[in-house]
Amino acid sequence: MKFFFFLFLFTITFSLPISFDWGDINGTSYLTSIRQQHLPQVCDKFSLINYLKKCGSCWAFSTTSALNDRLKIARKNQKPDIYLSPQFLLNCASDVGTCDGGWVISLLPWLQKNGIVEETCSPYEAIDKECTDLNICKQCWGTNQCVAISNPKKYYVSSYGSLSTVPDMMQEIFKNGPIICGIAVTPDLEAWTGGNAVFYDQSGVQSLDHWISLVGWGHNDTQNLDYWIIRNSWGTEWNPDFGGFFNLAKGVNNLGVENWCYYANP
Ligand SMILES: *[C@@H]1O[C@H](CO)[C@@H](O)[C@H](O)[C@H]1NC(C)=O
Ligand SMILES: *[C@@H]1O[C@H](CO)[C@@H](O)[C@H](O)[C@H]1NC(C)=O
Repeated sequence: MKFFFFLFLFTITFSLPISFDWGDINGTSYLTSIRQQHLPQVCDKFSLINYLKKCGSCWAFSTTSALNDRLKIARKNQKPDIYLSPQFLLNCASDVGTCDGGWVISLLPWLQKNGIVEETCSPYEAIDKECTDLNICKQCWGTNQCVAISNPKKYYVSSYGSLSTVPDMMQEIFKNGPIICGIAVTPDLEAWTGGNAVFYDQSGVQSLDHWISLVGWGHNDTQNLDYWIIRNSWGTEWNPDFGGFFNLAKGVNNLGVENWCYYANP
């Protein structure tokens, strides 16, 4: 019995390709755009707090981006792409996350219960707001001419779970689409401009302080390293030669990327 189980795992693991990228499935991308969690921002020169504050909404962007991709995959790339609203989460899911950070493992059951509106209903503002009717979904014509939309279309998470091994992570990405993982951010990662070279942290730091989505994997022959292909949410100006994505060493729990991984199906 045990033997067959191992044989089964072995077969699954080794039937996966050496490289796989939802951004290039036989030349077609099933990925939605890179987002920018820090903008727009209330930049009031006279208020030190506003001036310094960057919205820590990575938990909302990583999760919505993975869900946006899975919707795109399920809809076979049919246009237009659907973007779920991180601002709606800042407004209404304040018990699971704010601009000061949040927990993906708490967000997924929240999304299963409450659902989420589209970006156009509640565009990104990079600031925590109240969950009023206007802040759930609105339509605006001019200054102060906004009305709340009643019963806006909502998308729900149908199933979710955690992933604890590298083969499980690969299998899940391959079969169903991008996944959501927590990582540690280092000053070197913040300043990274290496394009598609593999980022390999040598400091060993694993303290969770950022969330991203994993969209595939590969192997770099020059560096002789396996890597994850990762979408960040710091705009396309971050690591610009790779459009806001980055490749991170795979299989060595670099930056703790293999510690806190989750999948969610729309
Ligand atoms: C991509 O192309 C290969 C070879 O032509 C084919 O076997 C595979 O099914 C294709 N994949 C998709 C997702 O269309
Ligand atoms: C591998 O990394 C090098 C930099 O070390 C980079 O120039 C090259 O494009 C990468 N190759 C692939 C296939 O990503």
